[in-house]
Amino acid sequence: MRSLNHASVHGRKDGKPMNTKTFETYESEVRSYCRNFPAVFTTAKGSILCDEDGRQYIDFFCGAGALNYGHNNPYIKRRLIDYLEQDGVLHAMDMYTAPKREFIDYFENEIIRPRGLDYKIQFVGPTGTNAVEAALKLARKVKKRTNVFALMGAFHGMTLGSIALTTDADSRAGAGVPLCNVTHIPAPYVPRARHRRLYGAPDHGRPLRRRKAGGDRP
Ligand SMILES: Cc1ncc(COP(=O)(O)O)c(C=O)c1O
Repeated sequence: MRSLNHASVHGRKDGKPMNTKTFETYESEVRSYCRNFPAVFTTAKGSILCDEDGRQYIDFFCGAGALNYGHNNPYIKRRLIDYLEQDGVLHAMDMYTAPKREFIDYFENEIIRPRGLDYKIQFVGPTGTNAVEAALKLARKVKKRTNVFALMGAFHGMTLGSIALTTDADSRAGAGVPLCNVTHIPAPYVPRARHRRLYGAPDHGRPLRRRKAGGDRP
């Protein structure tokens, strides 16, 4: 069994060509991880991915959902199939639906109330960057200020607000507009070696010199 993480996999060792013609012909150049994974995947269960040649990989990619529950978690899969078989509403935007009420009631009873939290729930879009954008809007609205602080070296997503928070130069280059209203600060917990790789210096005084550090110069 192989392990899948983008730092360690760079090409098929048996030399057999992968059939990637469809992707390369029709998919946008905006592809990243797949360029480093020498496999076309077919199925996944728990922490194991399978490719077209029947090879198995331990999934160290740790994508959202797959990391928390494993691929095709049997409980989630059953509930999803049941929902579809009942012709549950598939597109609801922010409409009121009975399943949404059931979810909110459950969340309130199991998470919010036992912890004595005074929280509201916002249903953002399905991506991580949607949540980040919502958080940015909320913070700016509440504080009535435009500038936010963001930790260097973190990834937040590829929409404009999220890219503005990101220090990675390649991600920032894709924006095509000035990315402002953010002050980048070094994360206090970044280990020395990683800090040197990200910012070019272990000390926090010179964090913006290296090319990968794409934030605006002070
Ligand atoms: C910490 C963190 N925030 C935000 C995102 C963006 O999520 P998405 O790609 O779903 O927009 C990611 C994605 O990897 C992430 O790891």
